[in-house]
Amino acid sequence: MKIEGFKFHGTNKAFYAHYKNGAWDEGKLDTSINFEISSLAVAIQYGQSVFEGLKAYRAKDGRTLLFRPEANAKRLQGSCERLMIPPVPMELFIKAVKLVVKENKDLVPSYESKGSLYIRPFVIGTETVMGVRSANEFLFGVVATPVGSYFKDGFNSIRLTTTPYDRAAPNGLGHIKSGANYAASLYPKYLAQQQGFDDCLYLDPKTHTKIDETGATNIIGIKGNQFITPQSRSILPSITNNSLQMIADKLLGMEVIRREIPLNEISSFDELGACGTAAVITPIESVQDENKVYKLKSNKVLHKLHDLLQSIQFGDINEDFGWVIEV
Ligand code: PLP
Ligand code: COI
Repeated sequence: MKIEGFKFHGTNKAFYAHYKNGAWDEGKLDTSINFEISSLAVAIQYGQSVFEGLKAYRAKDGRTLLFRPEANAKRLQGSCERLMIPPVPMELFIKAVKLVVKENKDLVPSYESKGSLYIRPFVIGTETVMGVRSANEFLFGVVATPVGSYFKDGFNSIRLTTTPYDRAAPNGLGHIKSGANYAASLYPKYLAQQQGFDDCLYLDPKTHTKIDETGATNIIGIKGNQFITPQSRSILPSITNNSLQMIADKLLGMEVIRREIPLNEISSFDELGACGTAAVITPIESVQDENKVYKLKSNKVLHKLHDLLQSIQFGDINEDFGWVIEV
């Protein structure tokens, strides 16, 4: 059966571990995605909440493959540190993700459907607190559900618009995966969609002249043999983008450049794409900025990058990067 869209499509079991008295417990599986929490938990009142997103894929021969879980574990630790959450140990993260994938193996979509099992680890401050301070008690959870495409089905282009709003501040939380960033993106995304766009493109919050990212993806530009992607303190270090940079460099012999990208440089790009775990690579067909429209004509190189990345993730080709782990 084909799984439509990026939605919750049910789950068999989730995993929960608790932090109390200065230590994480070993955690356990549970059949429910609901749990009881204090109304005054720091996560609910003050947003002490971080999360991750990674996927498991069904190979042609039926194996279940996880893509770069250690990279997500490390990024979660960085997010935890910034929000005064005790970092989830690498071993606990990997154990939890593998257990959840095993318990939900029958939900991993077929190879042919090109769907995947989306895995959502998260950590929240659960202690009841009135004044603004960090919790001393936390919950680490991992939930998984089968998903289809984030934007459009297949390799179809999206249309973006810039926005006067920011999702992150110059020295704020843009570089970590905190729930607050996504709360900040809801209204600008709603406005963009009201105007007929698929999503909005955030500019750097300090000068509003350079490309940052969308609310759920990094941005990559292709110019000749160059793979160009923004360097910015307010964007999330995307694992998909990092993987694409390695593929572009090692497998396609492209020049990979990380630097600031002025918005008007889009007019000199051959291709522009949005990339992330949920979105994979989605070509961008146009970017509207006030009265100006930047149009992209091609998506040839992005297509090649997309196919190479997916053939690694689905186990069609062997890779030397050590990214794919069988569960
Ligand atoms: N940028 C933002 C704001 C995101 O939410 C995501 C999704 O996780 C990404 C970029 C892409 O990151 P990754 O490739 O690690 O999923
Ligand atoms: C992801 O790609 O994993 C994301 O977290 C993006 C979005 C669904 C929040």
